[in-house]
Amino acid sequence: MSLLTHLLLTVFLVFIAASPPSTSAADSPTVYEALQSYGFPVGLLPAGVTKYKVDTATGKFSVYLNKTCSFTIHGYDLKYKTTITGTISANKIKNLSGIQVKVLLFWVNIIEVTKEGDQLELSVGIASADFPVDNFYESPQCGCGFDCRGKRSGELSFKRFVPLFQV
Ligand SMILES: *[C@@H]1O[C@H](CO)[C@@H](O)[C@H](O)[C@H]1NC(C)=O
Ligand SMILES: *[C@@H]1O[C@H](CO)[C@@H](O)[C@H](O)[C@H]1NC(C)=O
Repeated sequence: MSLLTHLLLTVFLVFIAASPPSTSAADSPTVYEALQSYGFPVGLLPAGVTKYKVDTATGKFSVYLNKTCSFTIHGYDLKYKTTITGTISANKIKNLSGIQVKVLLFWVNIIEVTKEGDQLELSVGIASADFPVDNFYESPQCGCGFDCRGKRSGELSFKRFVPLFQV
């Protein structure tokens, strides 16, 4: 290889390495980054969500999953529909639709999520429950929640879901 070729190749490779992998990454944050910008932890949504839109003026958002997603966390069932909508503002999600928790025999919608300090309050309308926000630092996987490949991530206070949501 001639010195010139070598130099050109080096310059070329440096150029490639220096250019950002995708310009859209900077313009459009991931849905998880968007959640965090409103003060919420990523764990409110399951892992692998790539499609969403949010109207930053009104806070109205839609999140799209490829298919419905459900998992059980320490015995409590959660279900995400393919479209999740609501209105988000700092530390508050209102008019939420598309996320359900099974209370006794019934699937009920979680309609409001509020963050107060280090607590997340999940409301199903007739009842609400508070959870330490650090339960939501990781996104659960569709199908297996936090127990994928035998991996356990500690004892979640999701244990308290059923008792607290009882009316
Ligand atoms: C969802 O579907 C899109 C387009 O069909 C695909 O690019 C993406 O990888 C899928 N995501 C997951 C998590 O399966
Ligand atoms: C609440 O969400 C529904 C869709 O689930 C929408 O049709 C309705 O306009 C929303 N209401 C408000 C006040 O944003």
